Amino acid sequence: MDLDQALKGRRSVRSYLDKSVQEDLVRQVIEAATFAPSAKNGQQWRFTVLIGNAKKALTDLFRHELEVVSQRIGLENMGSSFSSCSIMEKAPVVIMVWNAGEKSWETEIHSVAAAIQNVLLKAYALGLGTVWIGDIFYTLSALKRHLGKPWKLMAAVALGWPAHVSNPRPRKSVDEVTEFLS
Ligand SMILES: Cc1cc2nc3c(=O)[nH]c(=O)nc-3n(C[C@H](O)[C@H](O)[C@H](O)COP(=O)(O)O)c2cc1C
Repeated sequence: MDLDQALKGRRSVRSYLDKSVQEDLVRQVIEAATFAPSAKNGQQWRFTVLIGNAKKALTDLFRHELEVVSQRIGLENMGSSFSSCSIMEKAPVVIMVWNAGEKSWETEIHSVAAAIQNVLLKAYALGLGTVWIGDIFYTLSALKRHLGKPWKLMAAVALGWPAHVSNPRPRKSVDEVTEFLS
C-alpha cells in the first residue's frame, strides 16, 4: 500500500464483522510493530493477544471495574470508557500493549506508541480495522493484575474486520501546528 494512502486513509474502526481474524494476520500486524524505532533500540513493547474466553474474561473485568469506578466518581466523569469497553467486547481480537522498559525513561513510552502506530497501519494495509484504546486507564491496575505481567500497561488495540468505517476526523493544518524558525 502506498504510504500516503496508509497514513491518510486509516480511520479508527469501532464496529466489526462477526468474523474471526486468522492468527497469521495478527502475527503480521505485530511483526510490523517490531519494526518501529525505539529508544536505544530497547524494543520496550510487549503484546498480549486476547481472543475468545481470554478476551471475554478481560472485558468482563473491565466492565465490572468501570462500574465500580463510576459509582465512586459518577457516570458523567467516565468519558468514553463504557463505549470503549463495548468496542473491546465486540472486536474479535484485543491486543494489550505493554511497556517493558526497565530504565523508566520517558522515551520508553514513545517507543511503545510508535509500535502501536505500526500496528494500526499494518492492520489497515491488510484490510483490518483497529482502534487504539486509552480508556483502559480507568481501571489499569485491575487489568494489569488480571494479566499478571510485571510491565506497565499502555493501551489496548481492538482489531477486526471493519463493519462500518466512520468519516475522517478533522485535522489541523500544517500551519496550525508548526512554526518554522530560521
Ligand atoms: C492515545 C490514544 C488513545 C485513544 N483512546 C481511545 C479510546 O479509549 N476509545 C476510542 O474509541 N478511541 C480512542 N482513540 C482513537 C481516537 O479517538 C482517534 O484516533 C481520533 O479521534 C482520530 O480519529 P482517526 O483515528 O479515525 O483518525 C485513541 C487514540 C489515541 C492515539
